[in-house]
Amino acid sequence: MRRSPLYWGLLLPLLWSASAHAGLLDIYRNADGSTNWQYLANTGGGLITIGLGAGIVFLAMSRRKLRTYADALAKIRDELELRVVERTAKLQVSNQKLSEEVEHHRQTSELLQSTEAYINSIIQSMPYMLIGVDKGGVVTQWNKSAHTISGVDNESALGQSLWSVYPQISIEQGHIERALTTKEPIHIEHAQHGQYYYDITVYPLIGTAEPGVVILIDDVTQRVLAESTLIQKDKMASMGELAAGMAHDINSPLSAILQAVQTVQRRLSPSLEANHQPAEAAGIDLQKLQHYMQAREINELLAGVQEAGARTSSIVSNLLEFARNSSHDKQSVDIIDIIENTLELARNIFSLQGGLRFQDIRIERAYPEETPEFRCYPAEMQQVFLNLFRNANHALRLVERDNFVPRLKIRVFVMDIMLRIEVEDNGVGMSEEVQQHIFEPFFTNKEFSDGEGTGLGLSVSHFIITEHHGGNIAVTSRQGEGSTFHIQMPCE
Ligand SMILES: Nc1ncnc2c1ncn2[C@@H]1O[C@H](COP(=O)(O)OP(=O)(O)OP(=O)(O)O)[C@@H](O)[C@H]1O
Ligand SMILES: [Mg+2]
Repeated sequence: MRRSPLYWGLLLPLLWSASAHAGLLDIYRNADGSTNWQYLANTGGGLITIGLGAGIVFLAMSRRKLRTYADALAKIRDELELRVVERTAKLQVSNQKLSEEVEHHRQTSELLQSTEAYINSIIQSMPYMLIGVDKGGVVTQWNKSAHTISGVDNESALGQSLWSVYPQISIEQGHIERALTTKEPIHIEHAQHGQYYYDITVYPLIGTAEPGVVILIDDVTQRVLAESTLIQKDKMASMGELAAGMAHDINSPLSAILQAVQTVQRRLSPSLEANHQPAEAAGIDLQKLQHYMQAREINELLAGVQEAGARTSSIVSNLLEFARNSSHDKQSVDIIDIIENTLELARNIFSLQGGLRFQDIRIERAYPEETPEFRCYPAEMQQVFLNLFRNANHALRLVERDNFVPRLKIRVFVMDIMLRIEVEDNGVGMSEEVQQHIFEPFFTNKEFSDGEGTGLGLSVSHFIITEHHGGNIAVTSRQGEGSTFHIQMPCE
C-alpha cells in the first residue's frame, strides 16, 4: 500500500522522538534532571512545522497533479464528446441509408408482388390451357382454361401427376424429357376428326431452379371447322356448277330413254290398232304376248323404268332450276304442314319400294305449340324432307336386328329468330369418313337402282338450305345406332 508523504511527515518526527526517548531525551533535561519543557516544546513545534510544511508542499504538488489530471480528463472528455458527436452523425447517416434501403426493399417487393399478380392474371385469363409440370410430370401450374376444359380445379391439380388429373392428355413423359434435353419446344397436333382439334406445344423452362416444362394447349376446333366449312362451301359451289352442267347433258338422253320406254309400252299394247298388222305379219298373238309380259312382270319393269326416269328427270330439272337461281318469291308457310304433307307423300311413294314400307316406321313428333311465321320456297323444303325421309327409309331397311322397331323422330324448335329441325332415325348410321362426304354431289353408298343412289339427294338439300334459305344443315351419326340431320334456318 502506497502511503502519502503527509503520513510519513507526521509519523517520522513522532518515531524519532519516541526512539530518542531513551538516550536523546536527556538533552531535554535540565541540569537538575527536570524536563526542559521549553526546549521540548520548541523541538516538537519545529518538527510539527516541518511536517506541516512538507504536507503543504505535498498537498500543493498533489493539487497540481490533480489539476493536470483534471485537465487531461477534460480533454479526454472533450475528445470523447467530439467522437460521440461524430459517431452520432455517422450513425444518423447510416440510419438514413438503412431506412432508404428498407423503403427501396419495400417498393421492390411491392413491385414484385404486383408483377407476380399481373403475370398470374395473364396466365389465368389466357384462352389456352396452360399447364406447368416439373421433369417428373407433377403439375406446378394450372390455369382457368385448364380447369374449364378438363373439369379439374386448381387445388385438385397442383402437386398431382399430370396423367392422373388429366388422363386424356396426349402428352407423354417422353415429350417432357425430349423438350428438356433438346431445350427446344415440341409441337403436337391432337384431333378427333370432325369433333376437336388441339395444337399442343411443350416448352422447356430454361433458367429456373427446378427443371420443368410448360404445356400450352390451343383449342383450334372452331378455326379448323370454319376452314373446312369454307373449303366445303367452295367445293360445293364448284360441284354445283359441274352438276348444273351435267344436268343439261343428262336431260336429252334421259328424255330419249323416257320417250323410248313410252313408245315400247305403246307398241306392245294390244289395244293400239297400229300394232295388229305388224304382229300378225310376224306371227305374234298380241294377247298371248300380253299374258307372257304379265307372267314375267315386263309391264312392271317398264313402269319402273319410267318412274325412275321421271324421278331422275325431276332431279335434273331441280338442278337446272337451282342453277338458274330461281326467281320466284318466298312464301309464308307453316313448316309443320310441309313436314306432314311430305310424310304423307313419302308413305305413298316409298310403299312402292321393296322391303320396309314407310308406313311401318314409327314416326315420333316433337313440335312447338306455336309454329312461327316461316318464309321459304315450299316445294324446295318439301324436296329436302323427302330426301331425308328417303335416306332414313333406306338406312332403316338395312337394319337386320330381330325385334327391331324402325323409328323416325322429327323435332321442330324455335330459338329466337331461328327455326331448328331435327330428323333422327335409328337406322344403320354412318362412319365419320362417310359423314364428311355426304353433302357432296354424286357421293353415294347405294347401288343405283330404281332412281335411288344418284348421290344427289343430300347435295341438293344442302344447296336448298344454305343457298336458298340462308341456313345450314349438318349430320351427327353413330354407326349401328342411327343418324340425325340438323337443319337451322332464319325464320325470315
Ligand atoms: N339417314 C341416313 N343413314 C345412313 N346413311 C345415310 C343417311 N342419309 C344419307 N346417308 C348416306 O349418305 C349417302 C349420300 O346420300 P344422298 O341422299 O346424297 O345420296 P343417295 O341417297 O345415295 O342417293 P339419292 O339420294 O340420289 O338416291 C348415302 O348413300 C348414304 O350412304
Ligand atoms: Mg338420298
